[in-house]
Amino acid sequence: MATSLCYAKPLKPFSLRLPQTQNPQIPTQTTQIREAETLTITGPTQLSGHVPISGSKNSSLCLLAATLLCSNSCLLHNVPTGLSDTKAMLSILRSLGAKIEFNERNKEILVNTDGVGRVEPCLEEMRKIRGGFFVIGPLLARFGEAVVGLPGGCDIGERPVDLYVRGLRALGAAVEISYVFFSAFLPILSQDSAIRQEKVGDGRVLAHSANGKGLVGGSFHLDFPSVGATETLMMAASMADGVTVLSNVAKEPEVIDLARFLNDSGACVYGAGSDKLLIKGKCQLRGCECYVPPDRIEAGTFMLAAAITRSLISISPVTPSHLSCLIDKLKIAGCKITRCNNDTLEVSAIPENVCENLRGFNVRTSPFPGFPTDLQPPTMALLTTCSGSSIVEESVFDRRLGHVRELQKLGAKIQVCGSTALVFGRETRSALHGSQLRAADLRGGVALVLAGLVAEGTTQISGIGHIGRGYENLDTKLQFLGADIKRSIAMASQL
Ligand code: EPU
Repeated sequence: MATSLCYAKPLKPFSLRLPQTQNPQIPTQTTQIREAETLTITGPTQLSGHVPISGSKNSSLCLLAATLLCSNSCLLHNVPTGLSDTKAMLSILRSLGAKIEFNERNKEILVNTDGVGRVEPCLEEMRKIRGGFFVIGPLLARFGEAVVGLPGGCDIGERPVDLYVRGLRALGAAVEISYVFFSAFLPILSQDSAIRQEKVGDGRVLAHSANGKGLVGGSFHLDFPSVGATETLMMAASMADGVTVLSNVAKEPEVIDLARFLNDSGACVYGAGSDKLLIKGKCQLRGCECYVPPDRIEAGTFMLAAAITRSLISISPVTPSHLSCLIDKLKIAGCKITRCNNDTLEVSAIPENVCENLRGFNVRTSPFPGFPTDLQPPTMALLTTCSGSSIVEESVFDRRLGHVRELQKLGAKIQVCGSTALVFGRETRSALHGSQLRAADLRGGVALVLAGLVAEGTTQISGIGHIGRGYENLDTKLQFLGADIKRSIAMASQL
């Protein structure tokens, strides 16, 4: 059987600035995970002390993509440089020709994109993260063309890019998706079956401004308030010719962070935080200095860690208004949450503060200001230790319950029906028991860590590369709080 690989032809020819396709290869897995690393947790444990919260992963990824819009340098403070997702994004920028200097200790990154000479970033890095796809917006806006790989990221459901594509078309871009095809030349059975073409994996998106001059302002209504599509279209519209109106946009804090960055760079973005954005395009944006706000999902995860271990810890910096849904739910459960100052929260679930056991509660994830989908898995871990039964409904992603099977291995009683899980609580929190688990995605992985902290005995978690995508030094931070958690390289047979 002979085999060949080819890219589907774009419908329109592209300008000579696009690089030629070189030796296309069968795409690899979306995320390469160092399977051999494991976390071993001995529980149950009680935490105490203070934990520093890192800069926001999702804001950083987007702000780094936005540096492609700016002439001169951009200086970003409080970037979570230890995350593998941040590293992948930096590799994407470097592959385009950006100059990057960073001070790991101070969490500062200086990016200069004046020397960008390519519009096709490294596809392998792009397949590792969802955020890499955001560069399509700034590349199109500043350079008039982009060739990007379809995004990777956690396997938590269908994650199409239709809103990006339709939105960019509304701004005057010609966009096509070209898949990699695998042609199998089969032994001839009939004329028709001689050659079978199969799509084997991630494709590429080829985009250029249809008028050959640049993007133009337009109107676009998002069917769903997608965070990434909103951010990508904001970046594209910031340098489009004319005014753009985007409706039903995401209201997540990361969208507001991006609007602030764009405006500080000279753009005119109005309405961030509401469901409509008005953007007046500018010919040029100039680099600025910005501070990446604290990661609200990491902060929420530590609040849940305090609750599940029935502990008292404080966290900072944190913006409490970004976590109001979680705070309300934790209060319903019986936790005591105190705002110590502007950016410090104390979470207590110690027996002195909690009447009996914590009580279960129902959760339905939804776009901001609703309950964050990213906190659904660790919240479910908590609910397995609370009294009564709780309903957890995942409404943002269609396959984000992968952690259920692993929690069940610890003894959790959970029934799943579609995207809804019924969690049967416990009268005593220590009813979970240690086991060997595998993290299959970032937030699902951290849910296993939280459950491992309260499970009796030893819990060993493999696939922890997923966790390193979004939590900086999670094991070290938990050790400082008193957890017995160790990172090690496991023998292949142990996995
Ligand atoms: N969607 C479409 N079409 C599109 C885009 C999105 O149908 O063109 C759908 C998705 O299939 C999904 C829903 O919209 O069902 C929400 O997806 P959204 O686009 O809002 O998510 P995202 O931009 O891909 C970001 C974060 C996620 C976070 C979500 C929701 C980044 C890099 N990722 O993803 O973060 O869960 O918003 O808040 O910003 C994580 O950190 O673990 C993570 C997955």
